[in-house]
Amino acid sequence: MNKFKASGVGEAINRIDGRLKVTGMAKYASEFPVENKLYAQGINSTIAKGEIISVDTAEAEKLDGVLAVITYKNAEKLNTFDEEMPQLSTTTIAPVLQSPKVNYYGEFVGVVVAETFEQAQYAARLVKFEYKQDSNPAIDFDESRSKAYKPNENSDYFRGDMAAGMAEADETLDAIYNTPIEHHHPMELHAIIASWENGKVTAYASQQMVEHSTIAISDTFQIPKKDVRVIAAYVGGGFGSKLNTERHAIMAVMASKMLGRPVQFTVTRHQMFTNTGMRQFNEQRMQIGAKSDGTLTAMSHETLSHTSTYQEYQEPCGMMTKMLYDVPNSEIKYRLIPMNFQTPFAMRAPGEATGSFALESAMDEMAWKLKMDPVEFRIKNDTQIDLSENKPFSSRLLKECLRIGADKFGWENRNMKPRTKQEGNWLIGYGVSAASRRAPYRETSSKVILELDGNKVYATIQMDATDIGTGSYTIIAQTAAEYLGIPVEQVTVELGDSLFPLTPGSGGSWGAASYCNGARAACLNAISKLKQNRNIGKDEDIAVAELLKTNNLDKFEAEGTATPSEEFKKHSVFSFGANFSEVWVDKDTGMYRIKRMVNVGSAGKIVNPKTAYGQIIGGLTMGAGMVLAEQTKVEPNFGNFITRSLADYHVPVNLDMANIDVVFLPEEDKIANAMGIKGIGELGITSVAASIANAIFNATGKRMRDLPITPEKLIKAPLEAGLVS
Ligand code: MOS
Repeated sequence: MNKFKASGVGEAINRIDGRLKVTGMAKYASEFPVENKLYAQGINSTIAKGEIISVDTAEAEKLDGVLAVITYKNAEKLNTFDEEMPQLSTTTIAPVLQSPKVNYYGEFVGVVVAETFEQAQYAARLVKFEYKQDSNPAIDFDESRSKAYKPNENSDYFRGDMAAGMAEADETLDAIYNTPIEHHHPMELHAIIASWENGKVTAYASQQMVEHSTIAISDTFQIPKKDVRVIAAYVGGGFGSKLNTERHAIMAVMASKMLGRPVQFTVTRHQMFTNTGMRQFNEQRMQIGAKSDGTLTAMSHETLSHTSTYQEYQEPCGMMTKMLYDVPNSEIKYRLIPMNFQTPFAMRAPGEATGSFALESAMDEMAWKLKMDPVEFRIKNDTQIDLSENKPFSSRLLKECLRIGADKFGWENRNMKPRTKQEGNWLIGYGVSAASRRAPYRETSSKVILELDGNKVYATIQMDATDIGTGSYTIIAQTAAEYLGIPVEQVTVELGDSLFPLTPGSGGSWGAASYCNGARAACLNAISKLKQNRNIGKDEDIAVAELLKTNNLDKFEAEGTATPSEEFKKHSVFSFGANFSEVWVDKDTGMYRIKRMVNVGSAGKIVNPKTAYGQIIGGLTMGAGMVLAEQTKVEPNFGNFITRSLADYHVPVNLDMANIDVVFLPEEDKIANAMGIKGIGELGITSVAASIANAIFNATGKRMRDLPITPEKLIKAPLEAGLVS
């Protein structure tokens, strides 16, 4: 029997659901064959702020197949916010169509339900709204600055004395970094098929956390949570946009309740810009003080961003800044401006992806001021204690990530002085950045069903976890195979049903650690119960098939729950990484190429290097996207977004990401959890943008603090003081 050999790396097997996916057999939310279903199409507002003064549905209602046009006039009265600016979370209610008030351009103001998708889509265009427009919507960030306030959820953080730290510094830096509005854009559109039957809801929905979705729906409609079932067997990406339950889902449930038939609501790609979350614009001011020997004395990180006018979300951009380096004096501040856009929400490493661009660009700027190697500067200020929580890290291999990455990348070939490496018309630069991402681990339950067939045991694992494209199915199967001592081919994994045992769902990089430990707990419970029944010693080495036979059972079920330990709570548990980039910039046109990247990650046990590698290259691609192209632009007169498809919201393609090396440092962090797994999902995007921007500085001598870095911005940017072209 398998002896659970300690190892920081599992097997790089193919995805167990790979075949289902490439053959189109994996069912996504809108593909479930629900009989008798209707189709809903949302209608969006065409003003940024104001009120609906009349609705004319006559023409739409006359059309064949149209069953209902629902607006605030005839919508069911739902549970609405009872406080000013409530915080958006993954369980928040989502009232919709409750008032004539319009809060932003593109807000859902109505829904048409028809027999076919085409009828619904056509009819939606025939519904006429008249508005009384507010002449002064908050759609310009600069003009709205005076409305900035301290968020209700206070995340400001102070340690030591920032002013004193700056005063004792030999070099100081004070710089502002901007990141634009971005959108998540998973390939699978947000979708739901909702059925209301006798006060109970069944919903096939593209959601990252099915349990939280049941809470959002039950709280919005004021029905018991147990009467809501959410199924998300496969999810085609989420990146944070499917963490919470959006208003299309609520409208589908409402329409089904009204019409007595199942209703499918698929959000269009166009609507994914206004109705399924976004990342807001962030203006981040970094101040750093350091001694001439490179010792940090002070660091502050102030983030100014925006939320909607009706709900609050603050991206925690200072998260990494408060824990990454050994700096005694630190200040983290957040301010928010209410604006007439939808409420932003968690997107692709919320806090780290954007915060690390500011932090790790600023660290590079400071290294250049000190004429220190940026790898050595980071290593000099390394710490094994999380100063923001006064806790030791469970494990922290940041120095090792930096050293091994530098070696693999050939960092010794870098010239410290910018604009000194050239090939023909290309200016060549190397950049580095450090990364860290909290590795949470949450209580997770699962059920294992064992079935004996001859001498073989087949196992089924059930949990309400989701696989959002990350490989959850596969690593859960690998875990069950390991702890049951059976081949992975004999394991079936069933996920994404709120009737299954509870897990935290997919988000925040806690999936792998939580799901695997949850599956392990059920398997170990099953074995221990089978042994107890027959008075077999718990250390006795006996195959699970034999155990079932001695128990005279051909089927056996057990549940198990994994819970974070006291040791976990006493430590700060993070994954760490380092990014290295080589960029070639055309010195006349400002066009540039990311020639190669090296990423080194330390994230505890890597259960499956193949799926983990997929996570990291996905993250690197998103990080490169932040620099190369991703941005959502606001039309300045009406407040609409003018980038409304993937043809104008650009993401990197394979050619942009030609040459990537990913290295995992094998470790088992047994303080983190029993299996030693830490999260990896969001580590991959963290600080990638800074490593590329730092490489651009090394190539050109131009410090680019405003993402994305377009050739136009690069050509126009001034050279750093003291450098000549
Ligand atoms: Mo993530 S942004 O927690 O899906």
